Amino acid sequence: MTGGAGRLRGKVVLLTGSTGGIGVEIARRLAEEDASLVLTDVDRDACARLAAELPHLERHQPLALDISVEQQWRDVIDGVAERFSGLDALVNNGAIGSAATVVDEDLDRYNRVIKVSQTGTWLGMKHAGALIERSGGGSVVNICSILGTVGGLGNSLAYAAAKGAVRTMTKNAALHWARAGVRVNSIHPGFIETSQLLARYEGSERHRAMLANTPMGRLGRAEEVAAAVAFLAGDDSTFITGSELYVDGGWTCA
Ligand SMILES: NC(=O)c1ccc[n+]([C@@H]2O[C@H](COP(=O)([O-])OP(=O)(O)OC[C@H]3O[C@@H](n4cnc5c(N)ncnc54)[C@H](O)[C@@H]3O)[C@@H](O)[C@H]2O)c1
Repeated sequence: MTGGAGRLRGKVVLLTGSTGGIGVEIARRLAEEDASLVLTDVDRDACARLAAELPHLERHQPLALDISVEQQWRDVIDGVAERFSGLDALVNNGAIGSAATVVDEDLDRYNRVIKVSQTGTWLGMKHAGALIERSGGGSVVNICSILGTVGGLGNSLAYAAAKGAVRTMTKNAALHWARAGVRVNSIHPGFIETSQLLARYEGSERHRAMLANTPMGRLGRAEEVAAAVAFLAGDDSTFITGSELYVDGGWTCA
C-alpha cells in the first residue's frame, strides 16, 4: 500500500499509541501524506525514535501521553496549541486488551481495560476534539474493532465492552459536532498481523481460528488500517460522520 499523494498537506494530526504495531504504520502513512504529526504514547523516547524515521522529521512532535490521565491530555493539548496554529485531526489509536472470557476476566484488569481503551478514547475526544473545533473543524478517527460490534471468538470480554462503547461514543460525538465541522468516525479492524499479535499467537489454536473465520482467508496488514485512517482524517471524507469503516477481510458480513 503506498501513500504520498499529499492528502494531509498543511494538516496537524495527533496520534495516540503511536509506537504500537498499527500506530507506527498510521504514523508512516500520515507523514507520507504530508501531515505534521503529534506522536504520543506512554514512552516519549519511543515516539522520538519513530519521528526520526519519518519524512519531514522537523515537522513532528513526540510527546508522552497516558491517554487515561486527564491532566496529561490537558498538558499535551496546551503544548499543541502553543507549537502549531491549531489541530486538524485526532487519531484515537492507543488501547490495551485482555483475552479473558466473561467468566475468567478479573475485575482489576477489566477496570484497567475500560480506563485506557474506553475512557482514554473519550478523554481524547473531549480535549483534542475541543481544540479541533476551536481550530475551525476537522476529523476524529476512533480506532475501534470488530469486537465493538460482534462477538469475535467469544473471548476478550473487557476489550469488547470498551470497543462497544467506542463505537457508540463515536456516533454520539458525531451528532454533537455535526454542525460544528468536527467529523467523528470509527475504524473497525479485524485481526491485524502485527509483530506483537504474531509473537503472542502465531501457530496457536487462536491464530488458526482468526484465519479460519476471516472470509478473505488472511489476516489484515497494519498498512491497510493506516490507509483507512488517511481517508477519514483528511478532506476526502468531508460528508462522512458517525460512520463505521470495517477493515476486516469480510469478518462482519459473514
Ligand atoms: N492488532 C489487531 O489485530 C487489532 C484489531 C482490532 C483493533 N485493534 C486496535 O488497533 C489499535 C492499535 O492496536 P495495535 O495492534 O497496534 O496494539 P499495540 O498493543 O501494538 O499498540 C497499542 C499502543 O497503545 C499504547 N498504549 C497502551 N496503553 C496506553 C495508555 N494508557 N496511554 C497511551 N497509550 C497507550 C501502547 O504503548 C502501544 O503503543 C488499538 O486501538 C487496538 O484495539 C487492533
